[in-house]
Amino acid sequence: MFQGEDKRVVSGMRPTGPLHLGHFFGVLKNWVDFQDDYTCYYFVADWHALTSEYTEPHRIKGFVGELVKDWFAAGLDPEKCVIFQQSQIKEHAELCLLLGMITPLGWLERNPTYKEVRQELISKDLNTFGFLGYPVLQSADILLYLPDYVPVGQDQLPHLELNREIARRFNFLYGDFFPEPRAKLTETARLPGLDGRKMSKSYGNCIYMGEQMEFIRPKVMSMLTDTNRMRKSDPGDPAVCNLYPYHHLMTSEKQREEIKANCAGAKWGCVDCKKILLTSLEEFLLPLQERRRELDDQPEMIQEILDAGNRKARLEAAKTMDMVREKLNFNF
Ligand code: TRP
Repeated sequence: MFQGEDKRVVSGMRPTGPLHLGHFFGVLKNWVDFQDDYTCYYFVADWHALTSEYTEPHRIKGFVGELVKDWFAAGLDPEKCVIFQQSQIKEHAELCLLLGMITPLGWLERNPTYKEVRQELISKDLNTFGFLGYPVLQSADILLYLPDYVPVGQDQLPHLELNREIARRFNFLYGDFFPEPRAKLTETARLPGLDGRKMSKSYGNCIYMGEQMEFIRPKVMSMLTDTNRMRKSDPGDPAVCNLYPYHHLMTSEKQREEIKANCAGAKWGCVDCKKILLTSLEEFLLPLQERRRELDDQPEMIQEILDAGNRKARLEAAKTMDMVREKLNFNF
């Protein structure tokens, strides 16, 4: 038996596009690490994708399988964790409805993520009940599996805090039942995008997990480096260079020391450093892309993984809902 197997982990991602290295190092790496030590439930949050994509719902279907492929490529193993699809477990909707009854509007309106995203995505009309209630559905997702931990990226911390408040309110009203799950952030440094800002699809500054080297090469060559270093003869400062976080995650320590010395000593130019990064990236991505090919070659496996995971998740969700209905005296 695995050590700590009695601890439970739940997390989800929205199927809205291919995953990039920011997702990998920010969240997914933790998911993969946890599957050896905990009972893990990882799901495709397709209903959550609908909160912002509701005018083009048909786009979501294709992204569901791609997301599972990215997870599998990263090393998620369906034998070790439960991989499922939110919309296939109707209990998520039922619990969302019940939690909605007890969640004060003010909590949702004050949610910083709600305010930010609504301002950022001005091209979409997000003045909907569904979007305001996003964290209520997320709370249902989490609480259904009675977890101890929720591995997410930094951006999800306000949602998690709200989740704990909702759990507390339920427990206060109906008697102790739900845990107050804690967020788990990755320990690795954050990986900035190619231009130094947060890596994000909307900034066009990403390297994707499934991307081929021929596309990555020109991206790396145009990466921002230490802006104070105008010529090769100027000493560089790895501490402020945007390449360095990449080397930190993917290049060996020995080579990193060499890079530091040669950069600070003005012996190597940025192109030399970028060439090393390309090799590191290629070595890092190779095993991921080999695993991805397993699913490319057997596309029916994707649905099989989800079907098996859905069955397991449904059992757990049904058990929790039985108890929730009992707490509310809604066990008719
Ligand atoms: N809101 C999360 C995101 O955008 C996705 C998500 C939905 C989630 N439900 C969840 C994450 C439950 C953790 C737990 O990334």
